Parts: sequence; structure tokens; C-alpha cells
Amino acid sequence: MTLYRAQVVDTPDDPFRGGALRCDGDAGLLVEDGRIVERDAFATLRSRHPEAQLVELSDGVLLPGLVDAHVHFPQVRVIGALGMPLLEWLERCALPEEARIAEIDYARVVAGEFVSALTSAGTTTALVFGSHFAPAVDALFQAAAGHGLRITSGLVVGDRMLRPELHTSAERSYDEGRELARRWHGVGRSRYAVTPRFALSCSDELLASCGELHRDVVGSWFTSHLNENLDEVATVRRLSGTTNYLDCYDRHGLVGRQSVFAHNVHSTDTELTRLAEAQASVAHCPTSNAALGSGMFPLNRHLAHGVLVALGCDVGAGTGFSLLKEGLQTYLLQRLRGVDGVPLTAAHLLYLATAAGGQALGLRDQIGDLSVGRRFDAIWIRPRPGTILDIGIRHSNGPEDALAKVFALATPDDLGQVWIDGAPLRARAVDARPLRP
Ligand code: GUN
Ligand code: ZN
Repeated sequence: MTLYRAQVVDTPDDPFRGGALRCDGDAGLLVEDGRIVERDAFATLRSRHPEAQLVELSDGVLLPGLVDAHVHFPQVRVIGALGMPLLEWLERCALPEEARIAEIDYARVVAGEFVSALTSAGTTTALVFGSHFAPAVDALFQAAAGHGLRITSGLVVGDRMLRPELHTSAERSYDEGRELARRWHGVGRSRYAVTPRFALSCSDELLASCGELHRDVVGSWFTSHLNENLDEVATVRRLSGTTNYLDCYDRHGLVGRQSVFAHNVHSTDTELTRLAEAQASVAHCPTSNAALGSGMFPLNRHLAHGVLVALGCDVGAGTGFSLLKEGLQTYLLQRLRGVDGVPLTAAHLLYLATAAGGQALGLRDQIGDLSVGRRFDAIWIRPRPGTILDIGIRHSNGPEDALAKVFALATPDDLGQVWIDGAPLRARAVDARPLRP
């Protein structure tokens, strides 16, 4: 048994529904077999368990592990392209790189880069867009298992309007997905997600085979893109003969509680009503939406309809792996939306980056906050002495203010440690500093 002593901040109750930030200045968390078994004031817990191994996380703040609801594995090396809208960016940047990943040695290297980048950013759980090539997806699952990362991922499929080498058929898509699911679904912390790229690149027949696979792989997740860019939306409407983009997925049983749709910037009320009714989730990807000029996310309309919103970094259109940065960008964009913007606090941002993702992924009973019964997936934000974040936290007006500074200023360099299921992933050498008295 290990007893962690830290300033713990989390959001067990949804701040969009009146929940408050939970802040415990000197908390004890008792962890056994990767699970939090007791939580109390440190002194109380210490006297109850004098024999437990003590880990003092002095200074800084302990947060739940971050949950990324939308990120692309084969796009690590194309982050940072500027000046293009979605369809041009796909053609010129993303798809050529995604074709390279057919080469398995290349795929293994990129999978290693991807998994380290996620964990270095404090992401402990992710819903990952895999690759169009089954061996590359296999390499991703292997790399994630090697790091202990919780991932839900799958074979990306499309049969039109991509590059020919990325196209598949309905039958091959089903067979390859089924085999990957057999190898990885429910194995360790891995789960399978049926992943058509987007309705623009998928015929009705291919989406029908995705529906079949989703039904046959019990407990599988479903993820795709939705209503991201106006040209994309117009093309999907023209090709499908409907004004309801969501319906392209819905007619094949792909809209339900286990569905996560990325973006949904240009959604109709009919679609929002259906998403809410089906209890499907939306992954908001704010740096990507800004970088590609996709549009301003209508968070107010999602909330008004009761649609669950989580956060995704959407690398490589997104500008990096940090969900803290995505949280900050969510806040900034809502400020800019004026009367249509949702005023957000640090509690909302933390909720979006942790518990909301856990909910979208159906893992809320295990992750998303640091309550008794959850797995010990946590990140310790411990900035180097003398950095602006360190100074800011020391002079903050209480924990919520300190958390706002974390969202404004923290980078992967400020992560002292990351744990998944109680196992530390990497220790950063922190400068010697006296522990608290
Ligand atoms: N729509 C289809 N593919 C992609 C992708 O790779 N990134 C983003 N942002 N949108 C997409
Ligand atoms: Zn995406």
C-alpha cells in the first residue's frame, strides 16, 4: 500500500451542472493495487496507516490523469502546418504522411513517438484514431501496452476521395477490424473502436460494414469526424442527399452511448437533439478548429441540448498533445464568442480535460477524478523553482486560481510525475527543495 500526500484538485461533480471544484490542501490518498482505497486528510490517514509507504508530493498540485477524446496516431510528424483549411491540409499534409505508415518499421517508430508524446503531456487515457494499415494499428496497441496507456483505437477506413493506397473495401475493412479487435479488445487497458475516417471518404456500403463490426465486437467504441468544415459538410450533404450529416452514421447504428464525434462545429439543431437523445459525445478540438479555420465551436448549443462534450487535441491538425493547452484554448474561444460564449472557470476546464473524457469513453467508474474506488491515474504538476508557473502558484489566491495558472502556463516540462493504475511512468529529475515541514 502506498500513501500519497499532496494538494489534490479534481472535479467529481460536473461544474456544468452546478458541481464545484474539489480542493484538498493536504490530502492523503491510499492506493492499493492501482486503486484508491481511502482518501482523507493526510494526518488522519497517516495515523490510520503508519505502515504504508509514503510518497510526499510536496508543492505543486496533483490532478487526475488527462483524458484525450480525439487524437491521430500517424500525424505526430505533421503537427504545425499553417495556413490551410481541412480538405487541403488532408491532401497536402496528413494523407501523404498516413500513407508512409504502411511501412511497418516506420509505423513502430512513430507509434513509440506518439505514445511517449501523449504520456509526456500527462494524458493517461485516449481515444485514438489509428491508421489505415492494420499492422500499424497493431504496432500502436503494442506501444500503448508497453507504456500501460489506456487506449481505445482501431483501423481507420475509407473507400473514396482519399489516396488510392488508403482505400479499402467493406469486406476487408470488416475482416481486418475483426482480427484487430480479437487481438486487442479488452486486452489489458486496450479496447477496440470502429473508426471510419469521415462520411466524406466512406460509401454507404462501407459504413454499413462498420455498423456490422460495431455490433459484432461487443463493447466496441465508435468514433469519426462530424460537421468540422463548411466545404466538407456541403460535400457530404451532396453525396448523401441529406442535410443531416449525422444520419450517414445513424442509419447504420453508429450513433449511441459508445459513439464519440470529433468537432461538430457546424451542427444543426436536429443533429444536436439526436446526439443528446442517443447520449453520444462530442470531442471538442479547439486548437485544431482554430489552426484549420474550421469555425467557432458552439458550446452553448451543445450544453443547451444536453450533449456531453469532452476535449481532444486532434494532433496533427491540433497544435500539440497538451490537453491543458486545449483547455486554455476552449476558454479563450468562448470569451471571443461574446454573447454566444459560455463563461468558463478553471473547474470547467479541468472537468473537460478529465471527467468528461472518462464519461465519453464509458470509463467514469474507473477514471476522471481521484475519489475512492477510482484507479490511481494522476499527474503531479510540479514546476521548476523560479519559473513563472512556480511563482504564480505560490502567489495564487487559493486552489482555483492556482489551477487557472496551470491551464495558462503549464507545459510538459512542469510534470513531475505521471501514474497510470498506480505505476509511475517517468520521473523527471526535480531540483532539490525541502519537503514541507
Ligand atoms: N477529417 C477527416 N480526417 C481528418 C483528420 O485527419 N483531421 C481532422 N481534423 N479532420 C479530419
Ligand atoms: Zn481528427
